[in-house]
Amino acid sequence: MRVLVHTDAAEAWREALAERLPDAEILTSAAPADERRRADYLAAWKPSAALLGELTALKGIVNLGAGVDAMLDNPALPRGVPIVKLRDAGMAGPIADYARYGVLHFQRDFDRYRRQQARTEWRECPPVDKADWSVGVLGLGAIGARVAQALADDGFPVHGWSRSPRTLPGVRCHHGGDGLRELLPEVKSLVLLLPGTPATREIIDAEALAALPEGASLINPGRGSLIDEAALLDALGDGEAEGRLRGALLDAFPEEPLPASSPLWSHPRVLVTPHMAGPTPLGEALDQVAEALRAMDAGEDVETIDPEAGY
Ligand code: GLV
Repeated sequence: MRVLVHTDAAEAWREALAERLPDAEILTSAAPADERRRADYLAAWKPSAALLGELTALKGIVNLGAGVDAMLDNPALPRGVPIVKLRDAGMAGPIADYARYGVLHFQRDFDRYRRQQARTEWRECPPVDKADWSVGVLGLGAIGARVAQALADDGFPVHGWSRSPRTLPGVRCHHGGDGLRELLPEVKSLVLLLPGTPATREIIDAEALAALPEGASLINPGRGSLIDEAALLDALGDGEAEGRLRGALLDAFPEEPLPASSPLWSHPRVLVTPHMAGPTPLGEALDQVAEALRAMDAGEDVETIDPEAGY
């Protein structure tokens, strides 16, 4: 089989895949066009439409990330070609840490102490016990489920939400539209780990934000498309005085890099990070990619994504 690799770290991936699949020919997107065109498989993160459009002989695609939204939105994506995505692949641990950091930031009042420090103000905020700080996790896929359980293991009461019913030890699971309406008023911090699909677009809109309790906080290591940004800014209110929404820790945005003109950059109660919550290191990801390529090429059953559902 001939595999074309396209990522920022394509050469490292090429070498590592060549070691794991000694009978395969592995090339990067820097190879000449006539060689690229003959690829049977593509292993890629956010390929351009021009690159994808060249690949007319593809038998399978491996998405080098957990979210397939960018791949599915690519206008040159060939129809009917099976797509495999990374599942956890070492990302869930760092994303759980990101969510923990966000939850602790608000539960232990680090946001308030940062503002107090700027005023040289020495004053302890009334402590709130973890047991009284319920956290909601929207999205219980491979990553969301690990994050929900990590937070529950830390001692936070955790509510999880998914489109269809799930059960997770130690997590109160809700599902469907009614389940979301049940969950939102219960949680002091809301963590977003849903896939970016037409069904989840701006699921956090003005109505959802209004359903959160006064002083709730939002943590988004998922997808920018999940949030209606105008409604978010409205719920946050201006300036340092806490609005209905106390603050937000945001890692994903509808347009990345986040444009310099975005008011989120300078909002005093928003922390912006550059889509770093879940790095995709080689290692576990490489094992998944090599195994998916081997299995697809051997005609074995592989777990592919459902392009209609978007994950
Ligand atoms: C990163 O955002 C990913 O989907 O893996």
